[in-house]
Amino acid sequence: MRRWMLVAVLAGGATTFSVAVRSQEGISGGNTQNGASTQQPNRQPSYSNMTPQQRAAATRAFLGLGPEPDKAAAARGAPLYIQSCSFCHGPQARGATAPGLITSDEVLGDDHGEHLLLFLRKGRPEKGMPSFATMTDGQLTDISEFLHQQVEDVANRGAYHVLNILVGNEEKGRAYVQANCMSCHRTETFAHVGSKFRSPDQLQRSWIWPSQSDNAVTATVKMPDGSVLSGRVQEVSDFRITLIDSAGQTHSIDRGPGVGVELKDPLAPHQAMIMTLKNDDMHNVTAYLETLK
Ligand code: HEC
Ligand code: HEC
Repeated sequence: MRRWMLVAVLAGGATTFSVAVRSQEGISGGNTQNGASTQQPNRQPSYSNMTPQQRAAATRAFLGLGPEPDKAAAARGAPLYIQSCSFCHGPQARGATAPGLITSDEVLGDDHGEHLLLFLRKGRPEKGMPSFATMTDGQLTDISEFLHQQVEDVANRGAYHVLNILVGNEEKGRAYVQANCMSCHRTETFAHVGSKFRSPDQLQRSWIWPSQSDNAVTATVKMPDGSVLSGRVQEVSDFRITLIDSAGQTHSIDRGPGVGVELKDPLAPHQAMIMTLKNDDMHNVTAYLETLK
């Protein structure tokens, strides 16, 4: 029943949503005529008097959305989703050549990836949904949290923008950066970072996933005859690697027997750090970096 309601609300979009919210006000006893609500003692605050946080929580409870998504994991999952899934399911999981996922039972029946992980590892190859068995559990969990975040963003529209970003504590963020980032970075890395981006959203994305094009993956390839090629990696799969050498020439090499490939990703240590990030740390660091104008 709850599930059915959620699907109706999500599929129906804004209009249905406002109706749903009204009926929620009805449940909690507020008089919603003309948007005004009569306050009565010993009742929940009516929807319009709630803080964004209370609103989001009330909407989540009403829609039966389950636990709040892990936002740090969802932020890590975003680029993985874009890379591996958006081509078929659309950039916001609203559907493209493959169905939208925000009303999917597979997604709504999952809490923190434990169910989706099994599904994604197997896929449904006979129906055109590939298996993602080569991704790690951590990556699949992060993609799952990304999907839960999409559901949440749709359900909690307006409330979410306020909630998501810049809710951290600057002072704690500064302390976190001092303790956790300066082993690799110098102060200059973060100087003026707060004025480089149009929105806190983009700032957050940029420090969680620095641009790979500024930090290209390079490879050294040993050929069977003993010669060595190296350069920026353009494409790599289990079977083939394409790289551009320092003279700008493109080499496409089959990864047959006797070919040794050594990849070097400058962002790997940064990503290893990101995998340990908690929600609060993420919010605090973004709040702090935003002050570095
Ligand atoms: C090549 C296209 C393609 C790619 C890439 C792809 N999917 Fe799918 N996916 C599909 C198709 C087609 C279906 C519907 C299968 C069916 O009809 O049962 C599907 C179904 C699903 C479902 C189940 C929907 C439901 O309720 O039945 C989930 C969840 C899902 N995909 C998640 C993902 C995720 C996450 C990724 C990336 C890691 C991904 N998919 C990548 C094509 C794709
Ligand atoms: C284990 C080492 C390591 C840690 C810890 C680390 N990073 Fe990084 N980070 C890197 C490397 C390596 C790069 C890519 C190369 C470069 O820019 O130096 C990078 C790149 C970045 C970039 C992009 C810089 C650019 O110009 O492309 C930002 C922003 C960033 N990190 C922020 C942070 C923040 C914030 C923290 C702490 C919460 C952090 N990093 C912790 C290693 C680390």
